[in-house]
Amino acid sequence: MVDIADLNKRHGIAGKVTFREGAEGFAVMDVSNSHATASIALQGAHLMTWAPRNEQPVIWLSSAAKLATGKSIRGGVPVCWPWFGPHPSEASFPAHGFARTVPWEVAETKALDDDRTLAVLRLIQTPATRAQWQHPCDLECRITVGESLEIDLVTRNTGTAPFTIGAALHTYFAVNDIRHTAIRGLENCAYLDKVDGGKRKQQTGPVTFSGETDRIYLDSAADILIDDPQLKRRIRIAKRGSRSTVVWNPWIEKANKMGDLGENGYLNMVCVETANAADDVVTIKPGAEHHLWTEYSVEALG
Ligand code: BG6
Repeated sequence: MVDIADLNKRHGIAGKVTFREGAEGFAVMDVSNSHATASIALQGAHLMTWAPRNEQPVIWLSSAAKLATGKSIRGGVPVCWPWFGPHPSEASFPAHGFARTVPWEVAETKALDDDRTLAVLRLIQTPATRAQWQHPCDLECRITVGESLEIDLVTRNTGTAPFTIGAALHTYFAVNDIRHTAIRGLENCAYLDKVDGGKRKQQTGPVTFSGETDRIYLDSAADILIDDPQLKRRIRIAKRGSRSTVVWNPWIEKANKMGDLGENGYLNMVCVETANAADDVVTIKPGAEHHLWTEYSVEALG
């Protein structure tokens, strides 16, 4: 049972942060300030929307997205943790980890001096999560909503032995037409091509799209740019604590099989994921913490 009144009482901020039931039993936090609006599902600490004022939505949410307990939402920013992709040894464990489909709690909401809004969510650990991840730790997702959007996924090792995580902020960005979209910042990076059996290849020039694309770019720590000439805008992705970037678009056939991408939804999205994937997994020592941090901002494209 979600207690919306209690959430509003404890964490609501008049005119800035309100909670509502997005679907039965499914709490959503709405954020509104002078810079932007955003909405965040408590399940998965899943940011679903973010739009700076006077700007079209930057984050894509499928028109067919389902808000349901224990299911990942198609679109927004799924949090993949504590592994990326299939589990390395347990085939029955969910792809991309469990963080995106379990309840999180609100640790803090705050109106910052510059009128940005901070929301801090903490993963709730239960016997079910411990069955898939035994290492003592805390996981926090710190989201700052402003003219730019910052997400800081913080993993703290509270135990006595090191552990290793994979992770990703699996963001779906809104584009006018994927066929006229170019991704810059990955030139000269090697990548693993998941639509070609994981073969290692070399990127030359910007990434453009004419079919299913599913790649893990390696040694990618620089800013990534999504150029959308039709919307005359560029989305800039800055990142820290990440040396891998995943680029994904399922294209038409896979999208049709998925069932929750919406009609021709694949044309209007591209996932560019600030990741700890492939050889970029991170070992965290006892008492230490790892920040997977990213910031999205919009620039005019002449
Ligand atoms: C991407 C993976 O990160 O996520 C793809 O590289 C995968 O292989 C995609 O298909 C979507 O995953 P899911 O579990 O959200 O359908």
